[in-house]
Amino acid sequence: MSSKVIVTIFGASGDLAKRKLYPSLFRLYKSGNLSEHFAVIGTARRPWSKEYFESVVVESILDLADSTEQAQEFANHFYYQSHDVNDTEHYIALRQLQVELNDKYQAEHNKLFFLSMAPQFFGTIAKHLKSENIVDGKGFERLIVEKPFGTDYATASKLNDELLATFDEEQIFRIDHYLGKEMIQSIFAVRFANLIFENVWNKDFIDNVQITFAERLGVEERGGYYDQSGALRDMVQNHTLQLLSLLAMDKPASFTKDEIRAEKIKVFKNLYHPTDEELKEHFIRGQYRSGKIDGMKYISYRSEPNVNPESTTETFASGAFFVDSDRFRGVPFFFRTGKRLTEKGTHVNIVFKQMDSIFGEPLAPNILTIYIQPTEGFSLSLNGKQVGEEFNLAPN
Ligand code: BG6
Repeated sequence: MSSKVIVTIFGASGDLAKRKLYPSLFRLYKSGNLSEHFAVIGTARRPWSKEYFESVVVESILDLADSTEQAQEFANHFYYQSHDVNDTEHYIALRQLQVELNDKYQAEHNKLFFLSMAPQFFGTIAKHLKSENIVDGKGFERLIVEKPFGTDYATASKLNDELLATFDEEQIFRIDHYLGKEMIQSIFAVRFANLIFENVWNKDFIDNVQITFAERLGVEERGGYYDQSGALRDMVQNHTLQLLSLLAMDKPASFTKDEIRAEKIKVFKNLYHPTDEELKEHFIRGQYRSGKIDGMKYISYRSEPNVNPESTTETFASGAFFVDSDRFRGVPFFFRTGKRLTEKGTHVNIVFKQMDSIFGEPLAPNILTIYIQPTEGFSLSLNGKQVGEEFNLAPN
């Protein structure tokens, strides 16, 4: 079914919008899930023209489009409004544009707001959306926010209150884009649709789990945000823990969002809190320096634009989580994530315990690998016999 909607993106000139939001909207358009009855309002401080905004959108989707014409047709739906989130006048102009576009595209008053901005602006934006009547109770109205959602319980809870002053809980979508990835969703299938794993997915059979998120990119244009965040807030507290919860949770009573959520929450409640000593021993932080990857020269993190030249923010983090549940007590869930590594690749290794050997040599453990990106798929390493006269074992 195709949607009728006016999407407003706050932070439309940013890296996230170009790398993720425009391509995602384009995929929906191409697959017919976004009808002709949609428009996107991009807002940010920079004074861009509609033409320039369109060219940014076209550039971000060119490799996905069948033709430049198709990319341009899509980009025609994009409008730009220079916007200072603190300026009431700007919301009045925004409302006008919203109303105009709603009429022009017959969007039935459906509205979606995406806050691709630092969280300190969430409250102000939500407040103005209500006071300037942009959120007017007509059609569906939804708000999407991404991490970072505060820096601790108190700040997250304050943010919640601010958003809830304008939107109902059911209208607020706090999203983690990793959960939209095919192979992450496939973890449910692997775990709960395959008898061979059902009975071995626990501490009696699994020795450890290794989660790797390796990125080749540096911080790109996001130095200002990233320097306040670092790998732990950017990749670990969100993507890594979400993935961990899918790997570690018990079987939900049914495949519904409430049951899945309940099981995930149990995992988080059971996360072991390391002592300071254990933190020092098991967790590592690092930062990229200048260097070469495949002959290309890269600058150091501290020389990136908008990064403090003496920054101690980590661009690499690794460590081990433990889930204190009957299923996984004592099993380390190792993680590592970093920017400017030599390759890009997200995958999970489930390393099974070694079994007793009757062959006079130790056996390699079975490893189930879930490749999330860019390669997608699974592999399971099994011990076999090497071809030849001798009886030598080889994992394959
Ligand atoms: C984002 C982080 O959440 O995820 C970025 O803020 C990171 O720093 C990105 O590059 C990685 O996502 P993907 O989908 O490109 O692997």
